[in-house]
Amino acid sequence: MSKSILRLLCAFTLIALAACSGPAATPTGSAPDPTPAMTHPPADSEGSPANQPAALQEATAPPEGQEIDRSYKLVTGVQDGRMVFIGSGGPLDGVINPELTADLGEVVEIVLVNGDSIVHNVALEGYGLKSEDIHEIGQETRLVFTADKAGAFIYFCAIPGHRQAGMEGRITITGDGAAADPDAPQPVNLPSIALPADAVPPAVTRTAPDRLTVELETVEVNARLADSAGYTFWTFNGTVPGPMIRIRVGDTVEVRLRNAENSHYAHSVDFHAVTGPGGGAAATQTMPGEETSFTFKALNPGVYVYHCATPSVAQHISNGMYGLIVVEPEGGLPPVDREFYVMQGEIYTVQPYGQPGVVTFSPEKMLAERPEYFFFNGAVGSLTELNPLRANVGETVRIFFGVGGPNFTSSFHVIGEIFDRVYDLGSLTAPPLTDVQSVLVPTGGSAVVEFTLDYPGTYVLVDHSLSRAERGLAGHLIVEGEADPEIFDSPEGLTGE
Ligand code: CU
Ligand code: CU
Repeated sequence: MSKSILRLLCAFTLIALAACSGPAATPTGSAPDPTPAMTHPPADSEGSPANQPAALQEATAPPEGQEIDRSYKLVTGVQDGRMVFIGSGGPLDGVINPELTADLGEVVEIVLVNGDSIVHNVALEGYGLKSEDIHEIGQETRLVFTADKAGAFIYFCAIPGHRQAGMEGRITITGDGAAADPDAPQPVNLPSIALPADAVPPAVTRTAPDRLTVELETVEVNARLADSAGYTFWTFNGTVPGPMIRIRVGDTVEVRLRNAENSHYAHSVDFHAVTGPGGGAAATQTMPGEETSFTFKALNPGVYVYHCATPSVAQHISNGMYGLIVVEPEGGLPPVDREFYVMQGEIYTVQPYGQPGVVTFSPEKMLAERPEYFFFNGAVGSLTELNPLRANVGETVRIFFGVGGPNFTSSFHVIGEIFDRVYDLGSLTAPPLTDVQSVLVPTGGSAVVEFTLDYPGTYVLVDHSLSRAERGLAGHLIVEGEADPEIFDSPEGLTGE
């Protein structure tokens, strides 16, 4: 294998794990009214693979006796460290992952030319079709189909990992409304409710316990799940995860839980930091428009999960109802330069991962523990393209990490870093572990990791169960500053900056 190919593959590995990249943007805003109660589709027929897209059929020639109405040519290549399709000829020449269009009823061909001697193909979501694989430079294949369904469909490379590495674009098929397929998925662009990782309240500086009030509102909201996809999240205070709450051991806390007027479900809250019945769940089963409360004394320091505990509890958690409450020990935590708040969760949708449009909850997949989406802080890309973590060389960082789940434990890892200290299982009174690569975090559990940043670059937060990175689970920690070649160097200058 040539050096340049090796170099590309290294770059792809990192990018594939990164799930997405792009300019930082913070599309927040008031969310629209929630949709009516979620529909519960019939169970999958026995033996059908619950969350596997159907196998792709090869389609490389037009139906017999038919001519090609519309032809596009795409060349595979690499741009800014991502694998991409590059338009060739006409107005799309040189355009990365170009937007294609077709009219309903046309016979369309996408000619794919190999431009990088890595194996590729081109596939079309929604039609279940693909071209042949091509691996030699200059080799060509075709994907030919009759545009008989209107809508926006993703074309992508179906070689594992290549779509995540950047090989995807959109073809929009429009036509006579009468012939259009009303069920074809249409992309949606809903506001993000993903909580940025730097939404961390300040450390508690009080030296004595106090009496506090914590106010939470449960809100059901339609919001961004991924680019082009939306979902009805159930939240605490309108974000996923819910706000981090920070108190001190010995504090007496009155929790007031309001369930928004326009909710369709009852909600509640169970704090793992509470000693008492249901962690507060029994006292806070709250109907829409109502308010409940309870008071607890924080007897044990630590980093604790809170979550909704209204049946189906797993569904309420999956839909976004979780957060962390930090109970600081006497004397507090050692100071660091930056603190972050990251929580992992998974969502079970009827529609396969990546399908555009508003997607819906699947009770069957939840009971089978077969999620379509995994993510940090509430949505795919929330800690990569939307709000990456940022810090500088020389700084110390602390990540309060929790797993909402509801079902999947995390092997939390930061690619290219080593945790100097780990407060295992969220215990702030046991001495921290030192020099740890990955930390196992249970559902309804937490860990605190701390490390010093010694070298610039983009460090990727993952669950080292890495299939989940291909279903959305990744975050970026972007570190700026001087590169010290004593710490890391590469003869080709491949420092990943
Ligand atoms: Cu490919
Ligand atoms: Cu709930």
